[in-house]
Order: sequence, then structure tokens, then C-alpha cells
Amino acid sequence: MPERTDLDLSFVREQYPKNHWDWAFFENAGGAFVPHSVVQRISSYMTETQVQPGYPYPESTDAAERMNLGHQLMAEFVGADIDEITISPSTSFNVYVLAQALRHLWKKDDEIIVATLNHEANSGPWRRLEEFGLKIVEWPIESDTAELNLDTLDKLLNKKTQLVAFPHVSNVAGNVNDVPSITKLAHSVGALVCVDGVAYAPHRALSVKEWDVDFYLFSFYKVFGPHMGCLYGKQEILRKARGQYHYFFEEDDLLHKMNPAGPNHESIASLVGIADYFDTLYAHHFDKDEPSFFARSQALYAKFAEHEQVLSRKFLDFITSREDVRLIGRHESDKNIRVPTFSFISNKMGSEEIARAVSRDKVAISFGHFYAKRLIESLGVKDTEDGVVRCSMAHYNTVDEVDTLIRSLERVLG
Ligand SMILES: Cc1ncc(COP(=O)(O)O)c(C=O)c1O
Repeated sequence: MPERTDLDLSFVREQYPKNHWDWAFFENAGGAFVPHSVVQRISSYMTETQVQPGYPYPESTDAAERMNLGHQLMAEFVGADIDEITISPSTSFNVYVLAQALRHLWKKDDEIIVATLNHEANSGPWRRLEEFGLKIVEWPIESDTAELNLDTLDKLLNKKTQLVAFPHVSNVAGNVNDVPSITKLAHSVGALVCVDGVAYAPHRALSVKEWDVDFYLFSFYKVFGPHMGCLYGKQEILRKARGQYHYFFEEDDLLHKMNPAGPNHESIASLVGIADYFDTLYAHHFDKDEPSFFARSQALYAKFAEHEQVLSRKFLDFITSREDVRLIGRHESDKNIRVPTFSFISNKMGSEEIARAVSRDKVAISFGHFYAKRLIESLGVKDTEDGVVRCSMAHYNTVDEVDTLIRSLERVLG
């Protein structure tokens, strides 16, 4: 495998504030850096059109257009229609609202399967429905490789199962789970799926229709944008969901019914900056004109994936060679089955201790349970606050930065 790929990293990194590159930054799963284009969009919205949008005077019309464009481009980004996505404060918020919006469809003793692999965002809101008589069934993981086993799911599914909630990628383990197969299996008993794509979306292209998922969520702040969340839902199910916004928004007003927080104007307008960023990189790396933003982002993500695989291979070669370390998740770097999010536990040092020690080499990594507390508990980690060490990469990280990380970990772990 080559040490470098043809992703032009100097060009990529020019799109961001320079100060980001002073450290080797590996806390991308917590939140990604934001390129100038997004900052510029939010700033211009607030300086030029910070008025109530949609009224018949120039600033207001302009404000509505900027917001609509953000919304439209992000629908294209996931491969959906504009009224199938809701842009709201966060993924945690979106799952909570979704659970409330769907619960009237289900009766006492109906079942919801919740993967232990989930971030709490796609777990807690479903568990709360126990209060209304629903039964929560846990889909456990069976080893440190953190596989979601389909045979196990098959045994848990039955005609009472209404929904299966699981992550596309765990924010701890980094495995890419087989969303189409899991979805097909859930659908075979008439259950819906709610897929948490937060840890997947920064790394691989989205295509919700192709996967046939019922609900899919991700957060823009992990995808080089502002602190906002995106909920995709199939139209026919969104129609059946109970509206969670003001009473005068009709049940068939899919654009509004799932966001009781109301829109965050400047942030929605700034989503255009994510598309600007992708388009700038696309134009730099591809000769072919491509009219569809969906297709442009798919092509660009393929480049990200190749580069990330190189980073993964380098890090995995190092971490799997150490006998004092227990890696959570798959050991293979193949871009189709893994993203570069790595968590491990040392049998010599605490996780916080390791994160603090590498920071002396200007290496930023993190530790803890990352709100996947049930997963960390199920891995037998006693001190869940100390949890695991997480090193998470993005397409803008360089091979040299991974070398710095490895050297630093070698120094610290001995
Ligand atoms: C996998 C995963 N799901 C959900 C969330 C929650 O997202 P939000 O902060 O938008 O609520 C996170 C946040 O770290 C996450 O990593």
C-alpha cells in the first residue's frame, strides 16, 4: 500500500485556519475543524442578513434564500429529498424528538432493540419508552472487535419488534457496520431502523436511499460544519410520526414537524460553506465537471477514504504490535470496514494519564467513555470515567502527524 495518496493535503489544509496545524490533532471524533468557507458563510449571514427570513424586503428574502440553499444542499449530501431532512440542534435532540414522535404508533409489550455499541444518543431516548410499556431488548457485542453480529440480531427479532437502533460506526470502535444487511433483516419482521451515522459521516459518503434506512442521523460539527444535527426520515414514516412543533404546523408539513426547537438561521445558512469546501476540493482534484453535489461529494469521499486507509494502516501496524495494549474494534485497515477512529486500553497506564502525557509532545488525543458508557461497561472497563484512550483521525491529518502520534505513544508507553 502506498505511504501517500493523491489527496493534496497542503491544499486541503489551506482551507482551514493555520493555527490548527500547530498540534497533531487526533480528537476529530469529538468535533472536526471548520474550514474558512463555513466561518465566512456564518459571518456574512450575520452581517448582511440577520433579520427574520421570508418577508418581502431584500435582506429578509436573501436570508431565506441562504437558509434554503443550506437545507437543499444538505439534502443532496445525504441523497434525500429536502422535506426528508430536519436540521436541528443536535443528534441527541433529534433522537429524543423522534422517539416521542413515534411512540403513539406502538403498544404495550412491543419491543425496541438497542445496540450496546450505541452512543447514548441512540439509546437513552428509546429506553425512556419503557415508561410507556415498551420492552427494550439489548443487542450486545461479543468481543473486543465490537462486531454487530447479525445472527444475534436474528434471534432477538420477532413480530413484536418495532425498531432497531444501532450505529453505522461506533464512536469508540470505528468499525463500519453493514447497514444494508442489518436494515434488510430488521425489515423482514416489519421493524424500522434508526441508524446513528455521526461517526460515519465525516469519513464516508452518505446514501440513505440506497441503504433503505428508515431514519439516519448525523451531526454537522463532525462534518466540518457548525454545531447542528441532521435527521433523515423516510417520507411515509415521517407522515405517520406525530408532529412535535407548534400545533399550527400541519402533520404533512414534514419540513417543520420534527424540530420543536425551530431553525437556527445563521447555522443553517452556514451549511452552504460545507458544500463550498467540498466543491473547492472537488475542483482541485477532479477534471470532470459534475453537476450533482451528491455525486461530487461521493467522489471526494472516495479520496478521503483512500487517504484515511493509509493513516489507519500506519497506526494499526503500531498499536496491534503492542502486547500491553487492548485495541477495541477491528484490526484491519480496509476502508470498507473501518474508519480511522481507534480506542485502546493500556494494561500499564490509565487512559487520562496517557492523554495528558502525549499532550507534552503537542499531540491531542482524548480519553473516557465518550457517552458510549454502556459499551465501555460491557467491555469490562471498571473505571468508565477513565475509560479508553481514543485517537481519531480525519482526511486532513498527515502521515507525518501519525508518525508523531506513534513516537509520542512509544515514549509514554515505554
Ligand atoms: C456516534 C455518536 N452519536 C451521537 C453523538 C451525539 O451527537 P450530538 O452531539 O449532535 O448530540 C455523538 C457525539 O459525540 C457521537 O459520537
